[in-house]
Amino acid sequence: MKIKILTLFPDMFNGFLSESIIKRAIDNNVVDVEIIDYRIYSNDKHNHVDDTPCGGGAGMVIRCDVIDRAIKANCGDSSYICLMTPQGERYNEEITKELAKKDEIVLICGHYEGFDERVRGYVDRELSIGDYVLTGGEIPAMAISDSVIRLLDNAIKEESYKDDSYFNGLLEYPQYTRPVEYNGKTVPEVLLNGNHKLINEYRLKESLRKTYLRRPDLLENRVLTKEEERLLNEIKKEEM
Ligand SMILES: C[S@@+](CC[C@H](N)C(=O)[O-])C[C@H]1O[C@@H](n2cnc3c(N)ncnc32)[C@H](O)[C@@H]1O
Repeated sequence: MKIKILTLFPDMFNGFLSESIIKRAIDNNVVDVEIIDYRIYSNDKHNHVDDTPCGGGAGMVIRCDVIDRAIKANCGDSSYICLMTPQGERYNEEITKELAKKDEIVLICGHYEGFDERVRGYVDRELSIGDYVLTGGEIPAMAISDSVIRLLDNAIKEESYKDDSYFNGLLEYPQYTRPVEYNGKTVPEVLLNGNHKLINEYRLKESLRKTYLRRPDLLENRVLTKEEERLLNEIKKEEM
């Protein structure tokens, strides 16, 4: 997969691309990430890419002609162009799975006051990482790239993400490691006996319990298996 990120601040991505799982995925050709500076597409000698808002007001607005030229120079038929905006569709794991199937995603970062409204006409999708406002689209672009890259083949093992929260519509079960006893609190016995049938049942039940207690909305539209239904009924009685 190819990820292209259009930004006014390319250096913000240095740490993100040079550490841990993302660095390994790039080194192993699982993903190719290209950071593109808007300034290349400025048409004045001072490399200006933004201007003051029409009608007055604070901040600077990224110009639509600059973004148009950047898109024309960097996007083709297989590019899926996403605009980073707090006004967009709320990003979630289902969108992550969709993006992970694309050949190429292009993430457009605003900064300061944002971008000219006409930019919306050039994109396939508008994405928000939550109901709050950041100074720029760079952190959303990193969050989206990170969540997509970890789902790509050979980035991490499938077993590392298949039970993670949201992947299958539930929150993950509680995790423990050694020491087995710490300050009077112990690891549940079932996780220590090596019986994988019991461990799997415990994990499914605790995953359902966490979801029921913390995010009951996730269970509302879920089609439960017979086993999930049985476990959820047990949980409801236990939590009464
Ligand atoms: C200060 S914000 C501009 C906010 C804009 N004036 C508004 O009220 O909708 C600057 C840029 O940061 C990015 N941004 C800020 N918050 C975001 C969020 N929650 N999700 C995605 N992008 C965000 C967008 O690219 C945005 O253009």
